[in-house]
Amino acid sequence: MDIKPLTGGLGAEIFGADVTDGAQFAEIEAAFAKYSVIVLRGQDIAPEDHLNFARRFGPINVNRFFKPVDGHPEIATVLKEKDQKEAVGEGWHTDHSYDQIPALGSILHAIEMPPYGGDTLFVSMAAACEALSDKMRVFLDGLTAVHSSRHVFGAATQDSEAAKSGRLANASAATQDARHPVVITHPLSKRRGLFVNPVFTTHIEGLTPDESAAILDMLYEHCRQPEFQARVRWQEGDITMWDNRATWHKAINDYHGFRRLMHRITVDGVGLSG
Ligand code: SIN
Repeated sequence: MDIKPLTGGLGAEIFGADVTDGAQFAEIEAAFAKYSVIVLRGQDIAPEDHLNFARRFGPINVNRFFKPVDGHPEIATVLKEKDQKEAVGEGWHTDHSYDQIPALGSILHAIEMPPYGGDTLFVSMAAACEALSDKMRVFLDGLTAVHSSRHVFGAATQDSEAAKSGRLANASAATQDARHPVVITHPLSKRRGLFVNPVFTTHIEGLTPDESAAILDMLYEHCRQPEFQARVRWQEGDITMWDNRATWHKAINDYHGFRRLMHRITVDGVGLSG
């Protein structure tokens, strides 16, 4: 297989790989550990192959809120129909940061793509962390942030197009609150990285609401710099896998009038420490 970095910060495209071939797994896993986001081009596979590939990384983490793929409850449907306006995942986020044991990562398979657009953007949270001043890193070290699913998937969001159309459901299950260090040590690479995100993080403990909002806004503005980003331009059949502990991501909603269908499998992770 041929592995080509996407940017200096994170991400790599992988050509000529076959995710159904167990003999290739070690090389794919090593690329995932090195680049945090891997784009496996041209994987013409069935949902069962997708599941088998995901299980090589660990147990499947079944999403509570996304509509599952028919006949495959472990696979979440990420869908925008041509007459819909809202896409799933438009805000910068880290999947499942509201779980006390956040997911290792997600594996997204492009089933049906619009003729243009519908890219996904990623941020390297380690590169963003390393670009902060020493004094800011010292300040953040030891702080804890609270993350929640309630305000994103709970009852208050039931007027959204995604909820009304049935793409998101199960609002009564949105009861997760989790505490994580603001700066984590990545469980595999041991690189330090920021672990807060604009969608699920509610506040930093021990600061006043105004202080917490100001620090989080400053960090979000910092992380959004293009220097820390990679952009995945999809083709049907591609699989992109990202490390939730090392990245943010965001779906670009620029293809109104066209359908986009992805299958997503999320893999269990481990507890995080500072
Ligand atoms: C997601 O946030 O998991 C979906 C990303 C995408 O559809 O590009």
